[in-house]
Amino acid sequence: MSKKVTVIGAGNVGATVANVLAGKNIVGDIVLLDIKPGLAEGKALDIWESSHINYFDTRVHGYTDDYSKTANSDVVVITSGLPRKPGMSRDDLIGTNAKIVKSVAEKAYEYSPDAIYIVVSNPLDVMTYTAYLTTGLPRERVFGMAGVLDTGRFEAFIAEALHVSPKDVTALLMGGHGDTMVPLPRYTTVSGIPLTELLDADTIQRLVERTQKGGGEIVKLLGTSAWYAPGAAVAQMVEAVIVDSHRVMPVCVMLDGEYGLKDVALGVPVKLGQNGVEQIIEVDLNDEEKKLLHRSYEHVREVMQVLDDLKLF
Ligand code: LAC
Repeated sequence: MSKKVTVIGAGNVGATVANVLAGKNIVGDIVLLDIKPGLAEGKALDIWESSHINYFDTRVHGYTDDYSKTANSDVVVITSGLPRKPGMSRDDLIGTNAKIVKSVAEKAYEYSPDAIYIVVSNPLDVMTYTAYLTTGLPRERVFGMAGVLDTGRFEAFIAEALHVSPKDVTALLMGGHGDTMVPLPRYTTVSGIPLTELLDADTIQRLVERTQKGGGEIVKLLGTSAWYAPGAAVAQMVEAVIVDSHRVMPVCVMLDGEYGLKDVALGVPVKLGQNGVEQIIEVDLNDEEKKLLHRSYEHVREVMQVLDDLKLF
């Protein structure tokens, strides 16, 4: 219980990460940090006041922009940046969010050079790359959350279509966190039964497309982006690191030849433990799946080009 986790950004996603993680009762301290005076303090206090009710011991602290309070964290979660508004793609955020993520990663790294970094800011794949470049850490220690969320959405839609428990649905999804993401029905099962035996191709395609546009569906409804499922997804990744569980989940990580791709951060299945990404798992893809993954890769490369043009590095 002596572990320390810092969550930078006390907006909807950051606060949800802190709240869900506190409820898991697996870390000693959570530090919530924000630049808006009082925001992190207020949300941290509110979460801490639920400790008896939700039955956890984790101390939750909030501070305004004081990185010294984040020193020696085991895990640092970066949620800082603007969320999407209706009509925006995640990629439209890059100009603002790249500068924010770079500055946040620099300051956090100064106080926690041995931490594992989990990036949540959008556009996710390129912000993960930004944090990787900024910290200079090996790819095992700086990676992004998107696959757990996108897979979770796919799993929820499948559970709904089949009237089964979402607990029994296990899906796999790869690629970038955008409309070109690649859900993989061939690698999706319901308690071991292949999805392709339970639903017809048209229905599966409909669920795939809803998943690909899942973030946008919420933005249209709320006028801003999601936080409950994203926050829970991050907390699940932090848990895998903190308890060293070696769980397998899709994570955005720098590729170095895996799936024939290099010098790009993209979602792939990995094993997560106390040292971060312990293994990248390469599954066999058929020609169509390879084509879709490549299309997603090309899209992320285009956004990386926009980052290059900003000349931050
Ligand atoms: C989403 C945002 C958080 O997919 O990217 O909901």
